[in-house]
Amino acid sequence: MPSAHSGFTTYDAAPDLDPELPEVPTGLLGVSRSAVELATGRIELLHPRDAMDLIYRQNFGMDGDEPPYWAQPWPCGVELAAAIAARDVRGARVLELGCGLALPSLAAAQGGARVLATDWAEGALEFATYNARRNGLRLDVAVCDWADPAAVLADGPWDLVLAADLLYAHDGLDALGALMPRLVTAGGELWLADQGRPPAREFLRGCERWADITTTTTPNPDVRVHRLAPR
Ligand SMILES: C[S@@+](CC[C@H](N)C(=O)[O-])C[C@H]1O[C@@H](n2cnc3c(N)ncnc32)[C@H](O)[C@@H]1O
Repeated sequence: MPSAHSGFTTYDAAPDLDPELPEVPTGLLGVSRSAVELATGRIELLHPRDAMDLIYRQNFGMDGDEPPYWAQPWPCGVELAAAIAARDVRGARVLELGCGLALPSLAAAQGGARVLATDWAEGALEFATYNARRNGLRLDVAVCDWADPAAVLADGPWDLVLAADLLYAHDGLDALGALMPRLVTAGGELWLADQGRPPAREFLRGCERWADITTTTTPNPDVRVHRLAPR
């Protein structure tokens, strides 16, 4: 869990029963509730409980299934949400890739942006939709695999593209790297939050071919935000 950085708190208490709760994936016990205090306000986040246990089991079980990485509120998502909340995004068109629980998207929506949150995992989008409604925010969602990005290209280009903790070792990095420069408006930016995953350095070196990159630290010493401005 992201713990205390940038005002993120997880509560043990289960939320009140709600007949519209999204389905939790097999192997998880239920849902739990967290909240983050941002410059734009408080965001309540409902998410699957014990996701990290299932992720570890599936990673080491080598059973070929994609672990439910989307189900965990990662520190990068928390810090990117805090960075977005500190910027004026009113009226901006914002896209999030690999959104998982979509905390940065919710922060951008709270700041007045029009936001499309995307992931290839439908469970992620169910929780993002539920959490947007729970917080009284407007959020559009769409399934998008970076290798088949028609959904996000059709509605692009975007003023701001967000990506939190996507630079870990997986098969989609080449597709992600090819897609990113096609997404932003002239003068737009991509903000990538990364927590020092091994592939990140080489990935960002590749991005230097088409973008100027400014890197800033965050309250979490492990997490950095890279702001890419296409040339
Ligand atoms: C480590 S999680 C980060 C989730 C979220 N951004 C956060 O910071 O909490 C990686 C996310 O990327 C998504 N993902 C992985 N490969 C993908 C692909 N090829 N296309 C779209 N989403 C993908 C996963 O479903 C997951 O939600």
